[in-house]
Amino acid sequence: MEKHVLTLMLIICLSIIVLKLQSLSRTKKITRLHFYLQDFIDGDRPTVWEVAACNLTGVLPSLFGKVMVMDDPVTSGPELDSEEVGRLQGTAGVADFREEALVLLLNLVLTKGEFEGSTLSILGRNPLGAESREVSIVAGTGAFRMATGYIITSTYYKDPAGVHNVYEYNAVVYHMDPNVVFCCNY
Ligand SMILES: *[C@@H]1O[C@H](CO)[C@@H](O)[C@H](O)[C@H]1NC(C)=O
Repeated sequence: MEKHVLTLMLIICLSIIVLKLQSLSRTKKITRLHFYLQDFIDGDRPTVWEVAACNLTGVLPSLFGKVMVMDDPVTSGPELDSEEVGRLQGTAGVADFREEALVLLLNLVLTKGEFEGSTLSILGRNPLGAESREVSIVAGTGAFRMATGYIITSTYYKDPAGVHNVYEYNAVVYHMDPNVVFCCNY
């Protein structure tokens, strides 16, 4: 008799654990985003502004110490007239003596489609000379609550006139489903 009770309790416990795991996995999502960054560094309407430099910036080829603030259009395709789906806003600085490697501190805000109003926070190193660069996603809001992930970025077009560069971004985002409400009884 006692054996049966123990078996029953074990079955109940295992069921609870399985249910918990199932509900946890339902709250986790993976979203892939592919977009292009329109980077206007000069011309009539620059979107990237240099706000600071140091004495070494003009001396070292890496441009060490240069600090920029940007509000770049994010488009679905690489062309200038591609649909704008968001903005990439924040600060980039050169923090490497030897090569032009940026430290990025950026927010991606999506302004169109199912993720409108949601943001991703990006923090990482972006060595512009490398073919393919990997930058971290460290947080998110809205649809991307509690996001982590990574971005693979590359230079799609480098303007020989130094006015308008285009960068390709491929993001993999691990995040919570914001529609799942964690129960709390107060
Ligand atoms: C930067 O350059 C200016 C002008 O040459 C100089 O007066 C200043 O001391 C330099 N600052 C540093 C930190 O080297």
